[in-house]
This record gives sequence, structure tokens and C-alpha cells, in this order.
Amino acid sequence: MKIGIIGAIEEEVRLLMEEIEVLSEETIGMRTYYTGNLFGKQVILVYSRCGKVAAASTVTTLIGHFGVDLVLFTGVAGGGNPERKIGDVVVGGKLLQHDMDSSGIPGALRFEIPLLKKIYFEAEPALLAKAVESAGYYIKNQMHKEIDVSLLQEFDITVPAVVVGTIATGDQFISDRNKINTLNSQIDDLQCVEMEGAAIAQVCYEYGVDFVVFRVISDNADENAHYNIKRFLEKTASYLTQGIIKQFVRELE
Ligand code: ADE
Repeated sequence: MKIGIIGAIEEEVRLLMEEIEVLSEETIGMRTYYTGNLFGKQVILVYSRCGKVAAASTVTTLIGHFGVDLVLFTGVAGGGNPERKIGDVVVGGKLLQHDMDSSGIPGALRFEIPLLKKIYFEAEPALLAKAVESAGYYIKNQMHKEIDVSLLQEFDITVPAVVVGTIATGDQFISDRNKINTLNSQIDDLQCVEMEGAAIAQVCYEYGVDFVVFRVISDNADENAHYNIKRFLEKTASYLTQGIIKQFVRELE
């Protein structure tokens, strides 16, 4: 099995890079793809840069050029409902594009991808169960070894929740309480907002390739989002997001 692993930014793949025995690298379309071994599995690691186009282009190369059978995406996200706390892990059960609106076309629904006639892209239940298990294992057994307790305290993280739910993707960094409340009222089971996941999911759906999107909540998508994300990413999130991916790959048969 070949596994494609994507983060949007370099910080979201750097720690994985240190773990992978890199055998070759190839630059295509301004992205560098590292092929190597991680726990005896063949992986191709890349950072896509931010947004739906960047993510779609990267995952298309992973599938078309490298022939991956499974795509894992990891990174941070803004909380999509008041229950989501910084540090919580969201595994994308359903993903949609919150900035897709063709409802002006007769018969088209809000959020529906025209012609494909789909709103949600859904991950495989067996992979979701494995993802939840890996995240839970990392939090219970590894998190405290890798992340200093003072940093966990700074972000008020004790035991992060791990939830499977809806991820909403759009080409917007959301830092507006009214906007996130509106999305929460429009989207069933909204757990977080981010900028790549549903694009990855759509391409994987179109090519018939399995995927899992993991997100760690870095902010509440409100007016403090910019401050939180920068500090959290630098100090804490990278360990959580990449630690969970490592555990997932280690456990894969
Ligand atoms: N990624 C992390 N936080 C985000 C936010 N508030 N909006 C969109 N993407 C994000």
C-alpha cells in the first residue's frame, strides 16, 4: 500500500519528515514530494500550501503520478461549535465546501457541487474507527511525553476530545464569530472549519481513493483566531497532528 501524507504548511509535516527514511524526492508543480518508509510502509510526504486549489492540485499528483491508495491529511482548524476546545481532534466523517453556492442555478442546493450533485464527501467507516483509535492512543500514551505540560496548560488542554463529524472547507480563514455561528446553524454536526479537507475529499472521491482528514482545533474561528493559531502551531499543534498520523500509519495493516 502507498500512503500519501499531506499537511498544508511545512510545520505540519516537519516532524514526520524527521521520522521518514527518505529514499527519493521529486519536485512537481512547485511542490516537493518525499518518498520513503515510515514504520515499514511506503509513504509520500508533501505540504500542499493553503486553500482548495493547492490541496486539489497536490492530491491529484499524489494519485495520478505516485499512485497512492490512501491519502491522509493533517493540520489545524477553527472550532465549528461551542463544544470544540483548543486541542480537540476532529476526524472528518463528512466534508463539504462551505463557500460553494450554486443555489442561483435552478434545482441546485446550497453547498452542492454542480453536476456531481453531492454536498458531502464521506470517509470509510473502518478508516474513521482506526483514526479515532490512533488519536485516542496518542493522547493517552504519547502527548505528555512530547508536549511540555506548561504548553498544555497555556492552551487549557487536559484531555482533548476526539470526535468524528462534519468538516467545512472554504478559501477563507474564518475569524468572525457571526460567520462561524451562521455556518454552525446551516451545517449539520459542524465540528470545524479549515481550508483544504473537502477539496482533498472530492478529488479522492472522483478517483476512488480512500482518505482520512485529521484536524486539531487551534482557535475558535472568532476574533482571537489569528493570535491563537500562530502560537499554538509553533509550540503544540505540530506534535499533536503529526503524532496522531504516526500512530495511524504504525497501526495500519
Ligand atoms: N485553520 C485554522 N483555523 C482556521 C480558521 N479559523 N479558519 C479557516 N481555517 C483555519
